[in-house]
Amino acid sequence: MANKRGFTLWFTGLSGAGKTTIADVVERELRERGTRVEVLDGDIVRTNLSRGLGFSREDRITNVLRIGFVANLLTRNGVGVVVSAISPYKESRDQVRRRIIDFIEVFVDAPLEVCAERDVKGLYKKAYSGEIPQFTGVSDPYEAPAAPELTLKTDEESPQESARRVIERLEFLGYLKVSEEDEDWKG
Ligand code: ADX
Repeated sequence: MANKRGFTLWFTGLSGAGKTTIADVVERELRERGTRVEVLDGDIVRTNLSRGLGFSREDRITNVLRIGFVANLLTRNGVGVVVSAISPYKESRDQVRRRIIDFIEVFVDAPLEVCAERDVKGLYKKAYSGEIPQFTGVSDPYEAPAAPELTLKTDEESPQESARRVIERLEFLGYLKVSEEDEDWKG
């Protein structure tokens, strides 16, 4: 059964904080529950909708507003949208929040040292050596959300635990029916 109310789950946080990993688990769980889902991931959006944009403040804001534009179209048509983008500037996240009524901001919070240590894509090494300029957290700003709907401490909990908390928040907010098999899913 399709979900009645759409929503945008907006994962913001540093590169390597775990946004995409958690989004994957959440997406799977939502699909299993019959929710119509679309994922908008910064890395992928930058290969099509935002192709050609760089990482200046202006380009990042443009990227975030484009993602927000699409997320809004989908949300108002009853889709559950899962966004993962660094989205480092508070102002542009708030702009999207103002446009999308059913907006749930999720701060994927891991200390910079932990993200740099993980260095899943090998980008922090390049950022610290100066090979990549304007790298978020290293040589470019990240403005943490002041009042996100949810904060996930990914250095303290597993992606499955984080995803579970996201699902529970969606249930609490009335976007998902409370699952009777809550204990059964482990992502
Ligand atoms: S955002 O700032 O515009 O929201 P977005 O999430 O779309 O960023 O893209 C970030 C991804 O681009 C990172 O996960 C990383 O793979 C890659 N990337 C390349 N250069 C940079 C950079 N200078 N700062 C941050 N991420 C970068």
